[in-house]
Amino acid sequence: MPNITIDGKTVEVEPGTTVIQAAEKLGIELPRYCYHPGLSIVGQCRICLVEIEKMPKPQVACYTPVTDGMVVHTQSEKALRARKDVLEMLLVNHPLDCPVCDQAGECWLQEYYMRIGQYDSKMIEDKVKKNKALDLGPHVMLDQERCILCTRCVRFCDEISKSHELGIFNRGDHAELAPHPGKRLDNLYSVNTVDICPVGALTEKDFRFEARVWYLEATNSICPGCSTGCNIAVHTNTERTHHAQGRRVVRLKPRYNPEVNQWWMCDLGRYSFKSADDPSRLTVPMLRQGEQWIETSWEVAIEAVAQKIKSTAADRVGLWASPQLTNEDLFVLKKFAGRLGLTRVAAALAPLEKPVSDNFLIKEDHNPNTRGLGLAGFPVETKASADLLQQAADGKLAVLLIFSHDLSQSFAADAVTSALAKVPTVIFIGPNRNATSAAAHFILPAAAWPELDGTFTNFAERVQRLRRAVAPLGDARPVWQIVKLLGKPLGVILPYLESEDVFAALARENSAFAGMSYATIGDLGHQRGEEAAAVKARRLNQVPDKLRIIPIFG
Ligand code: SF4
Ligand code: SF4
Ligand code: FES
Repeated sequence: MPNITIDGKTVEVEPGTTVIQAAEKLGIELPRYCYHPGLSIVGQCRICLVEIEKMPKPQVACYTPVTDGMVVHTQSEKALRARKDVLEMLLVNHPLDCPVCDQAGECWLQEYYMRIGQYDSKMIEDKVKKNKALDLGPHVMLDQERCILCTRCVRFCDEISKSHELGIFNRGDHAELAPHPGKRLDNLYSVNTVDICPVGALTEKDFRFEARVWYLEATNSICPGCSTGCNIAVHTNTERTHHAQGRRVVRLKPRYNPEVNQWWMCDLGRYSFKSADDPSRLTVPMLRQGEQWIETSWEVAIEAVAQKIKSTAADRVGLWASPQLTNEDLFVLKKFAGRLGLTRVAAALAPLEKPVSDNFLIKEDHNPNTRGLGLAGFPVETKASADLLQQAADGKLAVLLIFSHDLSQSFAADAVTSALAKVPTVIFIGPNRNATSAAAHFILPAAAWPELDGTFTNFAERVQRLRRAVAPLGDARPVWQIVKLLGKPLGVILPYLESEDVFAALARENSAFAGMSYATIGDLGHQRGEEAAAVKARRLNQVPDKLRIIPIFG
């Protein structure tokens, strides 16, 4: 295997490794625009130039394979001069609108300019002006003049989404990025082009001008949009609440996980945060009196609901769990149902319309935790749900607890209304108001997913961590805490204080989660069946991903 020396440090690498990859192994960061580890290598932008001994001219580090005995200097006068000149050329026609560009704070042109720029401009000519704010598709805008023609977005559409919408047209100073005639950037993964655009040329319509990135905080979590469970970062704005119309969660970004989603996420999942700050959020416990909803305290609501359950025979109480709940919620709920002897239990629902799916990331099951539901011992077949609705319609239920679901998404609205009308006490526990909550008698507000610590088990039985990015809105609480509160007056004591306690009990008591803990799950998940020691060893071997994640600066 070839040995290479970079800035005096030597490393042995696999044949075929390029200089930029070998430098990463040594923890040496080289600037890059066009190079992206998930795309083909084109050596186009030339910002990664380095000096290689015995080679007369500077070479591009991203495109040059390592040879045995190669000696590279990344900080020599020749290398720095070469990169400075490239940057000067890239900035010749770049507009001076950085303060309004949405990528300000995340722009690698600014970053590298500050580090290695040619500060004294030598320009005497007018810039070549290109178009601003071109509407490329449903989610993406293009400022053509900011583009540095790195072709990352073009290669993404050719190699990853395989939808081929974009190209570089014209030549020399007049070369520009644009959609092919008659095409729009409207594939299901379109916003990944914004993530990988190293400058502010591609921006996301939803986030554009909403908040400055240096005020944002990032929390590692998991997309709840389907059973893939893409690894993401939840970006929140809690200090400047007058920005983004007061929304706390402002955007989601994919987070690199080689086992799950690599660098990408779909556009459907990307906007799954909207419900967290939606006006439909339930924030206070409520009880219905006639047509009126009365806001009340947790004590009053829990006491009233517990009394209803206590005074009802177990076989007349129905429970509708949900594959939207975390493993922690489901574990506690299962204990609750078991101790009360509830048998009329359903969970999964078949949607009325066939959900979008593909053979890349998006799964037909748009729930994040159907596997967890099954492992917790809840029915995953949708027949149980059809049966439970029928039991309600037949007047067999006196109390029905419904977690999260909007039943009208799976059954005809009339059938839901008439079945629920036959149940004297319907209790809805969920984060958002919907047609089902409207038909309930009690509402207990649950925390939304960005407000939760917990875990989901994805389709491949990988257990992954959600982390709390914002506090629950109003009086909302995680479902397992609501169930714990409800259990107490019913004699079901659930002695957990934190979600980590719940998970520790789950790992002890359910062999499906044996050996797991929040520590072994970490940021990259714990594959079921894999020993904790093996998970740890694999992590230690991993090349640091720092350079593969688009950072928030500041
Ligand atoms: S729009 Fe961005 S990603 Fe696409 S070629 Fe231009 S600079 Fe590169
Ligand atoms: S593929 Fe599924 S998990 Fe991944 S971002 Fe899309 S909806 Fe979310
Ligand atoms: S990053 Fe090496 S040429 Fe662009």
